[in-house]
Amino acid sequence: MASISDWIKKVQEFNPSNLQELEEFRLQYLSKKGLMTELFAAMKTIEPAQRKSYGQEVNQLKQLVESRYSELKLKFEDGADSASNKVDISLNGESMPLGSHHPISIVRNRIIEIFSRIGYSVSEGPEIEDDWHNFSALNFPPEHPARDMQDTFFVEKDPDIALRTHTSSVQVRVMENSKPPIRTISPGRVYRNEAISARAHCFFHQVEGLLIDTNVSFADLKQTLLFFAKEMFGAETKIRLRPSYFPFTEPSAEMDISCTICGGKGCNVCKYSGWVEIMGCGMVDPQVLENCKIDSDIYTGFAFGMGIERIAMLKYTVNDLRHFSENDVRLLKQYSGLS
Ligand code: PHE
Repeated sequence: MASISDWIKKVQEFNPSNLQELEEFRLQYLSKKGLMTELFAAMKTIEPAQRKSYGQEVNQLKQLVESRYSELKLKFEDGADSASNKVDISLNGESMPLGSHHPISIVRNRIIEIFSRIGYSVSEGPEIEDDWHNFSALNFPPEHPARDMQDTFFVEKDPDIALRTHTSSVQVRVMENSKPPIRTISPGRVYRNEAISARAHCFFHQVEGLLIDTNVSFADLKQTLLFFAKEMFGAETKIRLRPSYFPFTEPSAEMDISCTICGGKGCNVCKYSGWVEIMGCGMVDPQVLENCKIDSDIYTGFAFGMGIERIAMLKYTVNDLRHFSENDVRLLKQYSGLS
């Protein structure tokens, strides 16, 4: 018969690959007719002088067998080594957390969708722009104070290269590269050197629009923007245009919509005026058309531009612009399911 230390070694090395083998182990050692019973029964055949140490060894083996058995049983029950035995295919799967669109993307997509329904294509251009496309082609003369309206970030001390301050630059590229009729919107990120606050940021997003054709009038502009405002903010929305100034449009205007929060009665969002400003617009200055090699005797056009953050703030009553760039997942999650 093998010595007890041989048995101990055997038990320590026992490594079953399935529950069946473990059960055979249990029968071999722990059943009524198993090895442990046999070893305890053999006690009386042992010399009295060795009985004590024999008894200790047998007990040690028994404890080892029991702990090894329960340890291996647990391991199999957890399914770690026999996944195929344990998978319950009737259990519900774990659901994956759903991602959500950023509110700026939601609003941008909505603006694109509204304008695409009335025939506008989408144009994109570079965020690092040259002076011509961001300023000069748009009638900002050198040294003209109008350039101060848009605090520019220059790239590497080169006064010719800057981060674009508006996506009107993309429209210059479209006018240079295609022939009228033109009907396009340009969404994108723009940069201005402004102190970051609840109402201003050093980068934000715009959608600018451009339409050039024969016989385009200010009435067309107004009707297009009224359509947009109603689609974006609801059929009851009213618009008003106030005279303004931009170097690239003449005449120019700012467009207000009736306050989406109080419906025009007056509240702190509209500063009790009933109106909130959402975009700049105007008829494309004939000189801008000429700069882009479009014959201003034949063609006229209008342009408009809005900040996406501003629209999103009104649509979702967010009162601090900074929320949009902090990427706080708790804020972003609120927009899952919206589109
Ligand atoms: N480019 C102007 C801006 O960024 C907006 C605008 C676009 C105004 C087109 C008039 C016409 O502020």
